[in-house]
Amino acid sequence: MKAVILAGGTGTRLMPLTSYINKHMLPVGRHPMIHHGIESLRRAGINEILIITNRQSAETFIRYFGSGEDRKVSLVYRIQEGAGGIADALQLARPFIADGEKFLVLLGDNLFEEDLTPYIHDFRQQQDGAMVLLKEVDDPHRYGIPVFDASGAIKRIEEKPAEPQSNLSVTGLYMYSSDVFERIENISPSSRGELEITDLNNLYAAAGLLTYRTLAGWWMDAGTFESLKEASARYWDIEY
Ligand code: DAU
Repeated sequence: MKAVILAGGTGTRLMPLTSYINKHMLPVGRHPMIHHGIESLRRAGINEILIITNRQSAETFIRYFGSGEDRKVSLVYRIQEGAGGIADALQLARPFIADGEKFLVLLGDNLFEEDLTPYIHDFRQQQDGAMVLLKEVDDPHRYGIPVFDASGAIKRIEEKPAEPQSNLSVTGLYMYSSDVFERIENISPSSRGELEITDLNNLYAAAGLLTYRTLAGWWMDAGTFESLKEASARYWDIEY
């Protein structure tokens, strides 16, 4: 299976650092943040990876990671002009994915403790639709939060809700098939002008096609100073 890592955006919550360096190249332990995502994918047997970043940062990624050969993965790159949202970045993956092919999307600031292999295995068995991974959090206002129906299925996801319906967050690892690209054509920019991943996932949820698993190990979105500090401490002693 292939994967797409999204590493564009503006990183406003990590200003002023992100005024001169892409968020995903900030140090987490002994490596740049995105290194850990690449490593999680590689450990799960995924070694064909498309990195989507912006014009200002592409050179830094290419200089650091090159073809990926040193890390035993194959890396290719595409440029997102501007920061039109996660789903806007994702649509740039269209030429990388064949018709009917299943693939993963990883937000480059997300860090996972666990081996992702079992979840990917489950998604391979799934006939159609998409799968998301959930994790309990203390601060649900920061994330996409699912609302469940009586059977326990995801009815919809609310993005950064003022009154969260649960303390389970949708993490930044999404599993799709190539049909996702047609669905992106059916969403419109949100009030903040972005094509939202939550609006996209809600199309699957409305059709009863969004499944989920709940992570056992820790998960972090390292996109704030507090979480960046915690992530760095956790990864400090991990050697790869
Ligand atoms: O971390 C999980 C959360 O990620 C989810 O719970 C939310 O539902 C989801 O919307 C997302 O929320 P964030 O506010 O954390 O998203 P952020 O704007 O930080 O973007 C996440 C990643 O996507 C980041 O690593 C950069 C990349 N990105 C973002 C935008 C807006 C792009 O590549 N291009 C973009 O235009």
